Amino acid sequence: MSTGETNTQGAPEKTANTNRRQPYPQGFLDTISAGWAERAETLPAARAQAPYAAARRDAVSAAFPGERLVVPAGGYKQRSNDTDYPFRAHSAFSHLTGWGADAVPDSLLVFEPAGDGHEVTLFLRDRATRETPEFYRDASIGEFWVGPRPSLAQVAADLGIATAHVDAFSAADGDLVLDEDERLTGFLSELRLVKDAYEIEQMSLAVDVTARGFDDIVRELPRIVAHPRGERVVEGVFHQRARSDGNGEGYDTIAASGPHACYLHWTRNDGAVVPGDLILVDAGTEVDSLYTADITRTLPVSGVFTDIQRRIYETVREAADAAFAAARPGVRFRTLHETAMEVIARRTAEWGLLPVTAEEALDADRGGQQRRYMVHGTSHHLGLDVHDCAQARREMYYDGELAPGMVFTIEPGLYFQVDDLTVPAEYRGIGVRIEDDVLMTEDGPVNLSAGIPRMADGVEAWIARLRS
Ligand code: GLY
Ligand code: MN
Ligand code: MN
Repeated sequence: MSTGETNTQGAPEKTANTNRRQPYPQGFLDTISAGWAERAETLPAARAQAPYAAARRDAVSAAFPGERLVVPAGGYKQRSNDTDYPFRAHSAFSHLTGWGADAVPDSLLVFEPAGDGHEVTLFLRDRATRETPEFYRDASIGEFWVGPRPSLAQVAADLGIATAHVDAFSAADGDLVLDEDERLTGFLSELRLVKDAYEIEQMSLAVDVTARGFDDIVRELPRIVAHPRGERVVEGVFHQRARSDGNGEGYDTIAASGPHACYLHWTRNDGAVVPGDLILVDAGTEVDSLYTADITRTLPVSGVFTDIQRRIYETVREAADAAFAAARPGVRFRTLHETAMEVIARRTAEWGLLPVTAEEALDADRGGQQRRYMVHGTSHHLGLDVHDCAQARREMYYDGELAPGMVFTIEPGLYFQVDDLTVPAEYRGIGVRIEDDVLMTEDGPVNLSAGIPRMADGVEAWIARLRS
């Protein structure tokens, strides 16, 4: 479907192609705006996250006295002719507005210096109601196309932010703009390192929906095995849960069966799921507030681990448990990785896989031989983005200290490629990752995803229970 007409507002037409354009006849133009029932305009109460977002805006204001700040939501990105990717607001914009899946594309949050602080205004495209030509002409905002949207007053009441029409915004020299100004971008990323109570509740919700999605996958294993592209069935089963109970996936699902598990971001997901193999599923639901989970479980497709699969699995679990044990406030973030690596180096050395001793492999300069079997990091921050706070400075992130309110993953793995001649044949084609989402508290780490079985015995019992 396309409007067959030129957009009258927003982005200029993306192509000069007019081959389908039909003028609207006069009779249509004379009648289209009339004959609609009145709609009551009621103002909603402020949403639960409004006071939290206000506190974040106060922190931004205090850090940038006298500066005009512009935080754009972003807009649609074209996928192909007349088709866009689903819109998702920039995470920093969402963090500062509390607007999630329902954010309006092309909005801007502007901090205007005023007195000791700033006046903050959310600029957005007003409703394209039935009185406007955009109502039927504009496929990006017209109510005929996208359905009713809230008015400026309704958005202001909902989010607790002053609103104005986006046409009233003009950029000025000296504006600090998100993703253009390094200092603002870095600050907004670091502002998200410690989560507030609302964010922690949303992260728990994202984990709960994700847990239901993993249950769905286990329940559907017979159908998954029966299909020639069982990995796609895994992806689809998870998608159904993520979309019905949340906003969708926080990143593309990795459904990696057998040797595919050794490709760290296997999202092609076009393979069969074969009994006797393991399947690694890395999936996370993003809820309507846009917070996401990021969880990996590795399952024996037949329901029971072989001896070698279990040995590898339990070593990864031992590495994860060691990282959990090391995690407490004041410990450096990078300690998590270093701790997991000690286990991986020790075990792979014991198995005779390394050309050096474990001690030599752990040498910061000359070691790292064990990394062949786990090239990725052990942990990353998690929140609105799956890789949250990515623009934070190194001293605040990798070299920073763990603090209560931080949410991060612990996700060691072991991956033996199918053609890796450095390992005995029985190891080849086995990939395992166990990934949990962790909240740091004053008393130590809380595993938000502990409800999804993660010990080898527990995984087998889980599959047996849901299959019966
Ligand atoms: N799902 C990507 C990651 O675990 O970082
Ligand atoms: Mn992760
Ligand atoms: Mn993951």
